[in-house]
Amino acid sequence: MKSVLSCIQPTGDMHLGNYFGAVKNWVELQQKYKCFYGVVDYHAMTMPYSVDKLRNNTWELIFNLLAVGVKAENLFIQSLIPEHAELSWIFNCFCSYGQLTRMTQFKDKSQQVSETSKEQFISVGLLDYPVLQSADILIYKADYVPVGKDQEQHLELTRDIALRFNNSVRKEYFVLPDALYTDTPKIKSTADPSKKMSKSAGDKHFISLFQDEKSIRKQIKSAVTDVGDLKKGEMSEGVLNLFELLKASGGTEAYNSLMEDYNADNLKYVDLKEATANQLIDMTNEFKDNKVAIEKNKKDYKYMIKQSSGEIRKRAQQTVAEVKDLVGLMNVKFD
Ligand code: TRP
Repeated sequence: MKSVLSCIQPTGDMHLGNYFGAVKNWVELQQKYKCFYGVVDYHAMTMPYSVDKLRNNTWELIFNLLAVGVKAENLFIQSLIPEHAELSWIFNCFCSYGQLTRMTQFKDKSQQVSETSKEQFISVGLLDYPVLQSADILIYKADYVPVGKDQEQHLELTRDIALRFNNSVRKEYFVLPDALYTDTPKIKSTADPSKKMSKSAGDKHFISLFQDEKSIRKQIKSAVTDVGDLKKGEMSEGVLNLFELLKASGGTEAYNSLMEDYNADNLKYVDLKEATANQLIDMTNEFKDNKVAIEKNKKDYKYMIKQSSGEIRKRAQQTVAEVKDLVGLMNVKFD
């Protein structure tokens, strides 16, 4: 069976954008592949963050992932597998400094730091972020990485590191992982459909997967529909976003019939909003129920995830032992 690896940073809440854009796909991939899904807390330290919140955010995200259907046995917490950091150090020595400074995400994020934080502190960790990500991927020898466009460059770097490593040790040790492209809907902010849904833009700009019915209705009701000049026959970004949400949350019938209305030029936005809100509430109610049940047994679930991380760690340890052997580092069994 081919294997898949993907990871997500523990930055608090999960919203409809994360869910439809990535996590829903994770749940589906579990049927066809051996999956490794990580909550990457080492990565979360690369931007200014709160030490008091990190551990809680990590558990919160684990519970959220379980509540939407990710299986416990496929989940790990990155810092419970310190071999990720060890492999990352070794990879640092197989990665060019220049290439790291040219990464788009590094440029964007360091700019974000200088614009938003008083300290203007840009850590080496932020520069090194993609090397740790390469270790996440290669440590399990994953065949596929489901990625969005924004992560393509990181996968490219991973392949470069693997190649340079293989050349240096004169062995085809690492298999070059492939991207797994899936057509996931890109959900926009309902308050400003020109932007993608994200937490960093502020409360109005995302809808949490676990938020209560009333506030979901309110946010969908106030969704921006018509903005700017549209050419005849062109759908506005806001209306398109509502249609996307309706379809993604499983409202195919309503989607088809409202689309007919739209094409006949008699779509009422209230109807589209009502259908979308209903469908989202339907879908998220199940997740909320699951979450309540999980939170009642937090202790057991934490234990399960520590166990699964321990199991997954064995593979990571195996890789790191082989890598150390190949690059000339010490192992207790060596003289
Ligand atoms: N950089 C990814 C993101 O911001 C998170 C991530 C870390 C990741 N390690 C990974 C994604 C390995 C895929 C594979 O979304």
